[in-house]
Amino acid sequence: MRNIEFHNREKEIKEIRAILDSRPTLITFIYGPINSGKTELIGRMIEELPVEYVVFYINLRTKFLASYDEFIESLFEMEMESEETKRKRKETLAELVSSVTKVAGIPITREFLDYVFKDKKPKNAFSYIIKLFEEVKNAGKQPVLILDELQKIGDMKVNGPLIYELFNFFIDLTKEKHLAHVFVATSDSLFIEQIHSEAMLQGRCRYLLVDDFDHETTASFLEKYGFTDEERAIAWKYCGGKPVCLLELVNAKINRKDVEKEAKKFLRIRTSQILSIFDEISLGKVEYPENALIQEFKNFEKEETIRYDRVNKEKLFLVGRNVFFIDPTQRIIKPQSRLNLLAVREVMKDA
Ligand SMILES: Nc1ncnc2c1ncn2[C@@H]1O[C@H](COP(=O)(O)OP(=O)(O)OP(=O)(O)O)[C@@H](O)[C@H]1O
Ligand SMILES: [Mg+2]
Repeated sequence: MRNIEFHNREKEIKEIRAILDSRPTLITFIYGPINSGKTELIGRMIEELPVEYVVFYINLRTKFLASYDEFIESLFEMEMESEETKRKRKETLAELVSSVTKVAGIPITREFLDYVFKDKKPKNAFSYIIKLFEEVKNAGKQPVLILDELQKIGDMKVNGPLIYELFNFFIDLTKEKHLAHVFVATSDSLFIEQIHSEAMLQGRCRYLLVDDFDHETTASFLEKYGFTDEERAIAWKYCGGKPVCLLELVNAKINRKDVEKEAKKFLRIRTSQILSIFDEISLGKVEYPENALIQEFKNFEKEETIRYDRVNKEKLFLVGRNVFFIDPTQRIIKPQSRLNLLAVREVMKDA
């Protein structure tokens, strides 16, 4: 398979650079529809950062998080540790800081290992991180903490919901101490919806939308791979600017498959998946009445995006099932992708 190079995102990168150029004051929530390229953008941004930034990037997606200990382990660079790496662990923070550049996970010294895990107090872990970041600052560098897929900690509790402890910690790092830039990314728009109405975060965070590519960006992306005008129109019709979907079509083209046939296949699959929600209703696995969901779909027969005054359970259910994407900052709802929009319309044809 040919390597697909990173495409565009100039506007978003500029926004992030402006944040990084200023003193840390707010937590930045990076959100957007599924598979819009949030993680890819973060990866790119990390690669491009000048050396004076020290990035600690933790992606919770790939972690198995069933307990508090596992969450703490996922923050620190310590899983699958061999005896050898244990021996090599640095003794002091200063030693450690001089050796960190761009890391996944927060490195830990031998000295602090027990302290962090002692008596399951998030405060221990957080105070260690603050010490580490202060040391990074003293070394003339700027710490940047990025947590991807934070919603994965779910309803985990340690002396109350862990998420509140974390938010307090993030506020401390930004607004209070101005010590580190904090970015939190999530693909779960129900989570953003909750964050948006969370009193403790009001005035303490900002939102950065990473949406699918716009029409022009999509066109220039496909141009790189030799799409004809007709193929580009097909790609836009079925995939919109959803990077993964476009990538599938690029691969189809590279393998000399018919682009339209492939796109139609995607639509059949997505339509069938949405129909299976109605199967679940028939089987009594889903509590929402069929006509209430149909009513929600009806909004998209003509429109691509709707503004809402009030959310209802049916809307949130469809957000939870990744059919709809909700942007609480603008109070809009739209299908998660162009493919979802078309699939919803297909379903409506038979409704
Ligand atoms: N700007 C881009 N240029 C090229 N490929 C991209 C770009 N953005 C995303 N992709 C590709 O699209 C796919 C999905 O991107 P990514 O995983 O970053 O999305 P995401 O928004 O983080 O998804 P999720 O909602 O699941 O967290 C990846 O395979 C990635 O390589
Ligand atoms: Mg992601």
